Amino acid sequence: SSNKMWGGRFASGPDAIMEDINASIDFDRKLYAEDIRGSLAHADMLATTGIISSDDRDKIVQGLNTIMSEIESGGFEFSRRLEDIHMNIEARLSDLIGPAAGRLHTARSRNDQVALDFRMWVRAEIEKTQTALTNLIGAFLNRAEEHADTVMPGFTHLQTAQPVTFGHHCMAYVEMFGRDRSRVRDALARLDECPLGAAALAGTGFPIDRHNTAGALGFSAPTRNSIDTVSDRDFALEFLSMAAICGTHLSRLAEEIVIWSTPQFGFVRLSDAFSTGSSIMPQKKNPDAAELVRAKTGRISGALIALLTVMKGLPLAYSKDMQEDKEQVFDAAETLELAIAAMTGMISDLKVLNDGMKAAAGSGYSTATDLADWLVREAGLPFREAHHVTGRAVALAEERGCDLADLPLEDLRDLNPSVNEGVYSVLTVEASVASRTSFGGTAPDNVREQIAWWRAQL
Ligand code: ARG
Repeated sequence: SSNKMWGGRFASGPDAIMEDINASIDFDRKLYAEDIRGSLAHADMLATTGIISSDDRDKIVQGLNTIMSEIESGGFEFSRRLEDIHMNIEARLSDLIGPAAGRLHTARSRNDQVALDFRMWVRAEIEKTQTALTNLIGAFLNRAEEHADTVMPGFTHLQTAQPVTFGHHCMAYVEMFGRDRSRVRDALARLDECPLGAAALAGTGFPIDRHNTAGALGFSAPTRNSIDTVSDRDFALEFLSMAAICGTHLSRLAEEIVIWSTPQFGFVRLSDAFSTGSSIMPQKKNPDAAELVRAKTGRISGALIALLTVMKGLPLAYSKDMQEDKEQVFDAAETLELAIAAMTGMISDLKVLNDGMKAAAGSGYSTATDLADWLVREAGLPFREAHHVTGRAVALAEERGCDLADLPLEDLRDLNPSVNEGVYSVLTVEASVASRTSFGGTAPDNVREQIAWWRAQL
């Protein structure tokens, strides 16, 4: 049989494969609440402007409310023959209230309808993401506060570089997730325009009031160009871009947790709640959650590339290609939410092994820069020469298999005669971090100030 919605021009129904490739109901049913909300606002505006009678509006409202509870109670029968969420709901409305249902789609197209529904879904997801990121940042702030004085090695090239504190390292992630949070908030400002009323692409001749529906649906204003409105998915691309960047941050953190929790590093121990054992090796405690966060990031960046690729060849305005926007965004959103939640749990629960961190911080001649800086400050050497002298001290220590602080004063004096006892005070890891008082540096008091600043932001 031909289609209820456009049967006029069609003599027969679709091939089964046509239905398979075309139907989106299996995934876009997620948009039911947005779809009904949009239709309620539209019907109300149609009555207010006199385009439909208030009697028909009342029937439509009543029918849509019934459908909402049918879907929410699991009693709604979704049909693939009816293609998508919009037509499933409209068909049911017509079963429930008869001909009045046919007036709902006046001055509207599925093109502006889907643009609206999806935009509202992404808007809600952005709110959720903001909350999730706030929680993750909060978890880091707590750990940073606890460990503002805990010395660990800082790395470049994954080679021991200079001592830092674990608190300072945590605050690096606070900065990263803080940027993600502000990015997602920025996206909200651009998303804040209502597509409803753009109709198929050209607008409509009916005297609709787009400002009315925009306000009712929580948007600041209607979109300004009907062609752009039905062909724009920037709000989804922005969400995915933000998600991909945030995923990248989560993945770097996951990678660090994997490394830190090895017996070789021994910087942290994951809680039982966020690790798994091995079925054969009884000693194992594996960082599976961190590994999965690292891996799932691929799905998120994949979703961004997929949607960019869908959009890049599309002439204006709407093309059915755009139906492929939803699964990518739904999957990325779900994945991101899960990854943020898992990381929040891992960070809150992990045990910091202060001794392991401190021992590693002191190895690898991590205070060599402090020695060079001392030579600049106390002996008046140019930094390049101080660097050279220190390099020779490191070579000597390496040859003897000892730390810089274990080199006798005479040997240091041989390298440069102005060295005195005072030099030993800068060779400890604690002295090293305490000296890094420049703004943004790792000195514990600095870190505490940064924590206070961030707490005031949240
Ligand atoms: N299911 C469609 C989508 O997701 C709804 C819009 C369909 N519009 C159309 N002209 N075929 O994009």
